Amino acid sequence: MAANKSKIAVIVGSTRRDSINRKLAQALVKLGEDRLAFTFVEIADLPLYSQDLEADLPTSVSRMKAQIEAADGILIVTPEHNRSIPAALKNAIDWAARPWGKSSWPGKAAAVIGATPGAIGTSIAQLHLRQILGALGVLVMGGEAYITFKPDLIAADNTITDASTRKFLSDFVANFASLLSRLAPAEAKAA
Ligand code: FNR
Repeated sequence: MAANKSKIAVIVGSTRRDSINRKLAQALVKLGEDRLAFTFVEIADLPLYSQDLEADLPTSVSRMKAQIEAADGILIVTPEHNRSIPAALKNAIDWAARPWGKSSWPGKAAAVIGATPGAIGTSIAQLHLRQILGALGVLVMGGEAYITFKPDLIAADNTITDASTRKFLSDFVANFASLLSRLAPAEAKAA
């Protein structure tokens, strides 16, 4: 039933038009939309963080903070840039943590995953991401999800073409849904 679906804010760490991580995020949405309600959070229009802008929060920042605060869980799908997280993603995380005392992060649950054309990519970015989110009071789902992206891995309709990867990603989404339902307050579970 739609009313009982956990709400997921999806943040893609790449601002690239043909991002493979955005494709992966869309495939995850397809795998999980029967149990979860997904909303994509735009980060490309955020200004570069400056404390000078906090007195009059930019609309794009207020919108992103509201989306994160309204969500039960955050799904972050990110590439690795120079063995860390992309600057655009760090900028979004920093903005959502501000102004002081009004961070949107504490108490949220998150799942992190990433795709790269390379063999070992995104593991160090995800390690850094877990450290940052932990410091902000976010509970990050355990496990590891590093996707080596091949051009035909995801079809135009966002279906994962490889059966073992599809099973792995289905389990990833199911585990996140299960974690969120275990974290939900008792009255929400009864609804
Ligand atoms: C990369 N790429 C990359 N890949 C990786 O596995 N580890 C890395 O440290 C880096 N570093 C890096 C830095 C910069 C500035 C760029 C532009 C790229 C390659 C990266 O995985 C590849 O470009 C992906 O296609 C990026 O994902 P999106 O943008 O397609 O989602």
